[in-house]
Amino acid sequence: VFSHVVRAPEDPILGVTVAYNKDPSPVKLNLGVGAYRTEEGKPLVLNVVRKAEQMLVNDRSRVKEYLPIVGLAEFNKLSAKLIFGADSPAIRENRVTTVQCLSGTGSLRVGAEFLARHYHQRTIYIPQPTWGNHPKIFTLSGLSVKTYRYYDPATRGLNFQGLLEDLGSAPSGAIVLLHACAHNPTGVDPTLQQWEQIRRLMRSKALLPFFDSAYQGFASGNLDADAQSVRMFVADGGECFVAQSYAKNMGLYGERVGALSVVCKTADVASRVESQLKLVIRPMFSNPPIHGASIVATILKDRNMYNDWTIELKAMADRIISMRQELFDALRARGTPGDWSHIIKQIGMFTFTGLNSEQVAFMTREYHIYMTSDGRISMAGLSSKTVPHLADAIHAAVTR
Ligand code: LMR
Repeated sequence: VFSHVVRAPEDPILGVTVAYNKDPSPVKLNLGVGAYRTEEGKPLVLNVVRKAEQMLVNDRSRVKEYLPIVGLAEFNKLSAKLIFGADSPAIRENRVTTVQCLSGTGSLRVGAEFLARHYHQRTIYIPQPTWGNHPKIFTLSGLSVKTYRYYDPATRGLNFQGLLEDLGSAPSGAIVLLHACAHNPTGVDPTLQQWEQIRRLMRSKALLPFFDSAYQGFASGNLDADAQSVRMFVADGGECFVAQSYAKNMGLYGERVGALSVVCKTADVASRVESQLKLVIRPMFSNPPIHGASIVATILKDRNMYNDWTIELKAMADRIISMRQELFDALRARGTPGDWSHIIKQIGMFTFTGLNSEQVAFMTREYHIYMTSDGRISMAGLSSKTVPHLADAIHAAVTR
């Protein structure tokens, strides 16, 4: 009865890892998925995470009961504080509801399903380009997806004029997906002044912001600095959705830890919204897993562990920033044609190189370097040892 089923293509991002795993070459390099690697090319579990896990294991009072539908209360409270700031009036006034979800994807999905059921506008505008999973999440949730101009290939920077025009002509009330920081895949963010202009335009047209915050602390190494865009929108008292992920900033990828926050106008509305979020979550995954959220709560609530975390987080961010400089220098040293300054200007985990899909295919075939076909490379997968190999490959690809 299933003989008609056609084979689906691999995921454009996670499929890169599948191809990489099959390659027997000793020099192969996976710059596809956004996952941090050490200078030795190994996955990293933060020391502070190991410590938190040890504490959890040693605590014999801990049981494996179901969490409430909305997840671990302490985790939710601390997550809201992390993204909105400890002194956020929205938190103080109980206008925020936060529910624990399955990392960034799960948080976006729960938020989108809620919007499809309860919001008067079903259209969401997403940046062009954006993370490949975004359009799939929103379409399957029942929203209609449109794009707004974001990236300018000519300058390899922000198309701010195009962005303002497209949001300016969006229908009143439309939902707008915004990357809180470290835009994936481009590494191009608006400046604070530009954010302020975006905020004013969106509020004047009652456009609803839905932030995807997957890289807080990962872009600049500073948790507050990377939350500024979100906090700007919350400070004006308006509504806002935020999906948070702890995959990158705590390295909890496979634990699937995240949160969805909805900032409302009043505490009463927030509690009614939460009651409806429970109706979205219950038939989707019932209630979220306990382990990862407990790790996060253990770290966030303890001042010393929190400080240790920020130090490890900054070290990861700094290593990525130094990889940008090394790759830029290596291309310059080779005299590779083109202006590669965007490598050091872009921020966060990724560089949007400007390499086309044929050049990417060439680099994979000849140099065993794996990356997404849009030319995005995960800087976090690079090390001083592998920079020369990548620079050789880029040089060969653009000069062939
Ligand atoms: C990425 O963009 O590489 C990451 O966000 C991982 C993923 O799930 O795609």
